[in-house]
Amino acid sequence: MTDPEAALGQLVREALAAELGAEFAAADPSIRPSSFADFQSNAALSLAKQLGHVPRDLAASIASRLDDTDTVAHAEASGPGFINLTLQDGWIADRVADQLADPRLGVAKAEPAQLVVVDYSGPNVAKELHAGHLRPTVVGDAIVKVLEHLGNEVIRAAHLGDWGTPFGMLIEHALDVGEQVTYDQLATGEFTAFYQAARAKFDSDAAFADRARQRLVQLQAGEPEAMRLWQLLVDDSMAYLRKIYARLGISLTDADMAPESFYHPMLADVCADLEGRGLAWISDGALCAFPPGFTGRDGNPLPLMLRKSDGGYGYDTTDVAAIRYRLRDLGVQRIIYVVGSEQHQHLLMVFALARQAGWLTDRASAEHAVIGLMTGAGGQRLKTREGDQIKLMDLMDEAVERADKVIADRYDDLIQRGQIAEAVGIGALKYGDLSVARDSSYVLDFDRLLALTGNTGPYLQYATARIRSIFARAGLDPASAVGPILLTTPAERTLALRLLGLGKAVNDAAATAEPHKLASYVFELASAFTTFYEQCPVLTAEGDLRQSRLALCTLTLRVLMTGLELLGIPVPERM
Ligand code: ARG
Repeated sequence: MTDPEAALGQLVREALAAELGAEFAAADPSIRPSSFADFQSNAALSLAKQLGHVPRDLAASIASRLDDTDTVAHAEASGPGFINLTLQDGWIADRVADQLADPRLGVAKAEPAQLVVVDYSGPNVAKELHAGHLRPTVVGDAIVKVLEHLGNEVIRAAHLGDWGTPFGMLIEHALDVGEQVTYDQLATGEFTAFYQAARAKFDSDAAFADRARQRLVQLQAGEPEAMRLWQLLVDDSMAYLRKIYARLGISLTDADMAPESFYHPMLADVCADLEGRGLAWISDGALCAFPPGFTGRDGNPLPLMLRKSDGGYGYDTTDVAAIRYRLRDLGVQRIIYVVGSEQHQHLLMVFALARQAGWLTDRASAEHAVIGLMTGAGGQRLKTREGDQIKLMDLMDEAVERADKVIADRYDDLIQRGQIAEAVGIGALKYGDLSVARDSSYVLDFDRLLALTGNTGPYLQYATARIRSIFARAGLDPASAVGPILLTTPAERTLALRLLGLGKAVNDAAATAEPHKLASYVFELASAFTTFYEQCPVLTAEGDLRQSRLALCTLTLRVLMTGLELLGIPVPERM
């Protein structure tokens, strides 16, 4: 077992069983990082309370069973009943040597693997991706990669908004301006201009509004010409999405668009299904479901609107159809909705209805991975001077431009400088999102995101470049480094212990759908490496010590690269 916390947990459970009886072999060993030792166990505290023992005495008996063993160098009771645990240096060194030889770097595959849907990014046809889409896109993609790395099968789903009432108006506008102009505007992301022009005509020109309404009726009836024009809008928008996802390093492809229109053929049946089972009924002319536990300010139950009084279907219906399809037809075990906090209630209502309908059972879970707001300096939503949403593409341009200023003086070669500025700028923007809890709101501050020190993308990119340069200077291939591992200083020991934490960090991030846990780990590892690098000469060390330090460098590079790859942070070879 490479993971120190898991290994210690196992030993604590064994000691508990020996001390208290076999049934305690399954107790929670409650292992935590400690500021007085490598780790601590809080198990004696809670168990003693349950059993009527004196916590401190129980802690002391457990500690004496663990003290001075193959794995644990020191175990001692402390405070009211903590057990402080310090690992043997030899144990750490052996595990690091194992990790060095392991292509998976000590990250075990999930057992059993799950089939998971990650619903993220939330793009819409003929609407720009704006600053608010950054977090649900970047965080969602990291969740996908972390889950896949653990061997789970992940279905990426960008619930593409490609259906609904605006499409009558958008199609008519496309006809007015012509296909080329439509393509030029949509494929380059000039959606606002396109959408607003359509909207303005709709509001001011009665004849246009009439045509738009007729077109919508045709579209909803599947009339071929209306469908062809609609498809044109979808294709043009896809051209833009492909471009922006590629630049942002997001793994969504055309095949991962789970467009709202895909569910359209299922909507009537979903309504009939729920109505037939008494889970939905007509209220004010509309078919509504009232999942239990949701009331408005007036105390009345809140509806999910399944079919409007005019017979149309909306956002609620599609989400209900989507969750049924995912659970009942695809048979997935977990659905993670990476969506803004403002849709929390909507999603909880969809989950509650799915549970009522028997689609969501104990064999599966649906969770809302809440995304908080990214704000401007004053804590308000990011806006342009004109009060519009900031385009995601513009935000990326700004990040790259600012990154270029940070690195400019180090590069003569303009092509190389451009590539590095792109990686540093985009990496900083993405890492900024991933390094904070996803549900917190956070202030976009480019100076902080682009700083070369602290918990930033550039700091981590720089750490990898620095390790590569050690090998380059010595004319060595990082892959050639082999043990043995010698832990002669506290800095080496701390770095080694950190290296062993990758598996836990990846698993924690996967379990809670919180990539920032992996980001914190990667940052702590890079910090431990910085200290090691300052205190432990590598190339001027001799013999086995040099080999060991080179091996620590290699392994740090591999673990950092793995972490950054899972987070979706591009890593330039040089910096
Ligand atoms: N397109 C939606 C929006 O712009 C987000 C979709 C989120 N996913 C979902 N299954 N509802 O708000």
